[in-house]
Amino acid sequence: MCGIVGYIGKAGATTVLINGLRRLEYRGYDSAGVAIIDDDRIVISKSPGKVARLNDKTHADWDPTVFQRAIAGIAHTRWATHGPPTEVNAHPHLDQSGDVALVHNGIIENYRALRARLEGLGHHFYSETDTEVLAHLIGECNKGDLFQAVCDALHQVSGTFGIAVLSANEPDRIITARRGSPIVIGVGDGETIIASDSSAIVAHTQRVIYLDDNDIAIVTADSVEIRDLNNVPVTREIAELNLDAAAAEKGGYDHFMLKEIHEQPDTLSNTIRGRLDFDLGSSVLAGMGTSPRELAELNRVVLLGCGTSLHAGLVGEYAFEDLADIHAEVQQAAEFRYRNPILGSRDLVVAISQSGETADTLAAVREANQKGAFVMSLCNVVGSTIARETGRGVYLHAGPEISVASTKAFTSQVAVLIMMALKLGRGRRYSREDGIKLGREIESIPTLVARVLRQDEHIAKIATTYANNEHAFFIGRGPMYPVALEGALKLKEISYIHAEGYHAAELKHGPIALLENGTPIIALAVDIPGKDKTLGNIEECRARGARILGIVTEGDHETAECMDDFITIPSCHPLVATIPAVVALQLFAYHVARIRGCEIDQPRNLAKSVTVE
Ligand code: F6R
Repeated sequence: MCGIVGYIGKAGATTVLINGLRRLEYRGYDSAGVAIIDDDRIVISKSPGKVARLNDKTHADWDPTVFQRAIAGIAHTRWATHGPPTEVNAHPHLDQSGDVALVHNGIIENYRALRARLEGLGHHFYSETDTEVLAHLIGECNKGDLFQAVCDALHQVSGTFGIAVLSANEPDRIITARRGSPIVIGVGDGETIIASDSSAIVAHTQRVIYLDDNDIAIVTADSVEIRDLNNVPVTREIAELNLDAAAAEKGGYDHFMLKEIHEQPDTLSNTIRGRLDFDLGSSVLAGMGTSPRELAELNRVVLLGCGTSLHAGLVGEYAFEDLADIHAEVQQAAEFRYRNPILGSRDLVVAISQSGETADTLAAVREANQKGAFVMSLCNVVGSTIARETGRGVYLHAGPEISVASTKAFTSQVAVLIMMALKLGRGRRYSREDGIKLGREIESIPTLVARVLRQDEHIAKIATTYANNEHAFFIGRGPMYPVALEGALKLKEISYIHAEGYHAAELKHGPIALLENGTPIIALAVDIPGKDKTLGNIEECRARGARILGIVTEGDHETAECMDDFITIPSCHPLVATIPAVVALQLFAYHVARIRGCEIDQPRNLAKSVTVE
């Protein structure tokens, strides 16, 4: 949510900053801005809209030599929280003197009180943002030592922040700090890059330092000095990213989303590879850090997540109950700490998060840790806050997910959850023979997905029939119920069609009142237990004029004939089938959105990685 880049090192900083913003744009894209130091003063350019607009404006407004010669600067792409996405509300924000510039992710909760106090001292504010208040506060605290001023200001704020601060009076350094909003520092050769995520760094260096909460760093072209907010030095190791810069490019596809959908045979192979043990009929997930005895003694599995990750958790719930005979439940991470979760050391809590930065999931992890549960995570982004705070868990290895709508992360999350459930199941009731059989099915997931991807053109054609509808309903049963929820989420977020997912049986308890002639019903009618009941529910919809698009099993002609349109998935285990089924719905959503001319990779109002509550 919002993207920060800071750079200090060689001439050409403006280009580095703007290119960095382009890589972070998926985190927020309603306005952007950049500040550099030139001739002992701060020069700023800001614009509503996307980074491309900022780039045009900066080129138009700035003398080309200013653009090129700067060696230090900070930049930001915004997802508005306080005040609409206007130029004046865009970051960077200046202090009263105009000598200090700040970019900020997060929320300063006590900004109103601080603003009133500063106004009393003669400060004038131009924007509606909490960030401008923090910039003025730093300026007010600045007695000639920027680092100390930032420390003093941060002691006075409550809330969350990832910040980078530039001062015209100390042009050889950038001060950066974090509490609740990630900051990564790339350590290059005579250059240092600060960013809210590593995708802005990878083009420069693979060597990074992750700041912890309440760390504050003095960054120069060739040094990084980290202290805590009480000015006590702290040591943070340099980590290797092992990220391929090309992985964050579109690679010939029109959209990141389409690329990421088509990558899934590879990303799933990376998720599964080396994690199945065919001798034991089990899975090998060393990162879980659990002994067989600990697993056998578990009472319950609690799965936490938001949005798509929550839907993956719902599939996981079926997997744990089915394979491991253990009580499993999914909890909405945002609600978790506001109820009274009953947890103990024999409860396994699995936090599911692609980004590993989602504020609600992170807070739920902290709550679960505090209550003494056995907490682990399932993250995609290596070194992310949730991954580091849980200390154990399983990485997805799905590669950078740039499209705001999550696709490949979901399928990898589900694959890992099935493997986790298999591991637990083998220590409980699942036989070796059944484990080997399921292992073979899991191993075949990339091939199953490839078979769905081959229907891309067919799905694009079907999409033309549904693209003009303004409402759609997705229905499913058993593990296909969460797939229905996920299919509806994908369609609504990128095509803006009002889409709802329901358990197939639930429709007639109310929502069926909304059906009219031609209302689309997207039915998960895959050949798994419960299919016949779903077919009954489909007939109830058809009787009320609905048009039915079915996801059906290859070769199940009888079911296919019940549909107006259909997409097939290969026959497989009901839990495994969730993965090819969701891929069919991802492609459907993509093509509908494309026909409707939507901004697929960056849907309106959304941002990747929601780091505010
Ligand atoms: C939807 C989507 C969101 C995320 C949610 C959680 O396509 O991407 O619903 O799934 O914001 O994000 P993570 O998984 O990063 O915690």
